[in-house]
Amino acid sequence: MTSALDFIHRWVAGADQTGPVLLLLHGTGGSEDDLLPLGGTLWPGASLLSPRGKILENGMPRFFRRLAEGVFDEEDLVNRTRELADFVEAGRKRYDLGSRPIVAVGYSNGANIAASLLLLRPGVLAGAVLFRAMVPLTPEKLPDLAEVPVFLAGGRNDRIIPPENTERLARMLETAGAAVALHWSPGGHGMTAAEVDKSRQWLGKNFAH
Ligand code: MLT
Repeated sequence: MTSALDFIHRWVAGADQTGPVLLLLHGTGGSEDDLLPLGGTLWPGASLLSPRGKILENGMPRFFRRLAEGVFDEEDLVNRTRELADFVEAGRKRYDLGSRPIVAVGYSNGANIAASLLLLRPGVLAGAVLFRAMVPLTPEKLPDLAEVPVFLAGGRNDRIIPPENTERLARMLETAGAAVALHWSPGGHGMTAAEVDKSRQWLGKNFAH
């Protein structure tokens, strides 16, 4: 099914009609507005597609259910990943994106569903910038992510996303063939200006036309 554009979302048509379209995926408790400024910083003039997660955890939007912090409801995650992939494909049609690359930019819960999209629906994303991501699930069979560029930004002292789990995700994506750039900040779960700048440079290198 690729018809349903059924997430509350923002679409910002940018001036850059040939560069990547950024799929912005917020963290727990966020909204479709949260990452719009980040998108504008990472690729000035980029078009932005920014959905709001449909799950509510104590009133906080998320992209999939969890049983506890870092323990995911895998069945829900698989279904929600499918639903998000269908939304992105519907967005491609609705907003006339043709074959333009769509690159996910996710933070925390949004980064985790972006990783799940890469693992379960390869081909939907041309690449991903993942801030504070962990292994969302272990697929039965790894997808072919040959040369798909992925920037992973972790915090060495993140208490929500254990650094070794981010490293495990990096290895999993690399084993699937992705070109992974792993960046570490000394801090915790919060995003830093330095890593935003690094990811901006990385995007320019990998997606400049
Ligand atoms: C998740 O649930 O995806 C992770 O624990 C990160 C978060 O707190 O959102």
